[in-house]
Amino acid sequence: MRNLNQDNITQAVIASFANTANPRLKTIMTSLVQHLHAFAREVKLTEEEWFQGIDFVTRCGHITDDKRQEFILLSDVLGLSMLTVAMNNDKPEGCTEATVFGPFHVEGAPHYELGDDIANGAKGTPCLVRGTVKGINGEPVPGAVMDVWQSDDDGLYDVQHEGLDHAQSRGIVTADANGNYHFRSIVAVPYAIPHDGPVGQMLDATGRHPWRPAHLHFMIKAPGYETLITHVFRDNSDYLDSDAVFGVRQSLVCDWVQQPDGTYLMEYDFVLNPVKAQ
Ligand code: BEZ
Ligand code: FE
Repeated sequence: MRNLNQDNITQAVIASFANTANPRLKTIMTSLVQHLHAFAREVKLTEEEWFQGIDFVTRCGHITDDKRQEFILLSDVLGLSMLTVAMNNDKPEGCTEATVFGPFHVEGAPHYELGDDIANGAKGTPCLVRGTVKGINGEPVPGAVMDVWQSDDDGLYDVQHEGLDHAQSRGIVTADANGNYHFRSIVAVPYAIPHDGPVGQMLDATGRHPWRPAHLHFMIKAPGYETLITHVFRDNSDYLDSDAVFGVRQSLVCDWVQQPDGTYLMEYDFVLNPVKAQ
């Protein structure tokens, strides 16, 4: 393997994977190299541009820590996260659609009783959230465990508030024996994804904004059903048609109705997909 040139280097790299023990890894590495080389050829990548790319991913690495994940953010704004979700969550008609997970879920959120206020002091307009968790045939899903998280009126998740040592606007509630759930929280507002790093610079350079439409995150688990990771979006929110991470699905858009006392009501029923028999 000497004197490789632009015409035969791709095949040489692919051949170097011949002894890969894991067949799936071999398929992925082969395809990755094929597409990466084709991309470089197609845009006639210059050495300076190659170095700019290396510098970009280096800066993504430097800004990433246990609270900030710039690579997931990059995947999100390039539509790769939503493409992966869409390809892997092809559910039967009538099931609630999935959307991106995002970086702000926290394991071990506090458990709340039905009717509790999960805002726990977060700034925002009070909102009652209620509905039913059902199966595809309309059967209630008793005891569905609902992990919920959202940003506050400043467009920030609790984990983004420096020095805040307790959960706000996040919690776990369990649907009752009829699949019904209700809890209190605050009205979600549009917010900008973290854009003070390399991903933000990329958005800027390509004339894009970092905003997401107002939404409430849900992860719902119940025995016998596939876990559902999704959001409910607020109808008429700004950015529904230009979500920075391409996560909006019309079936997830819901009217959050203002009540006479100024508080809001968000009602949404979720439909889970049964786990396929093995
Ligand atoms: C979110 O909705 O929490 C989110 C999703 C993708 C990137 C940043 C935030
Ligand atoms: Fe979010």
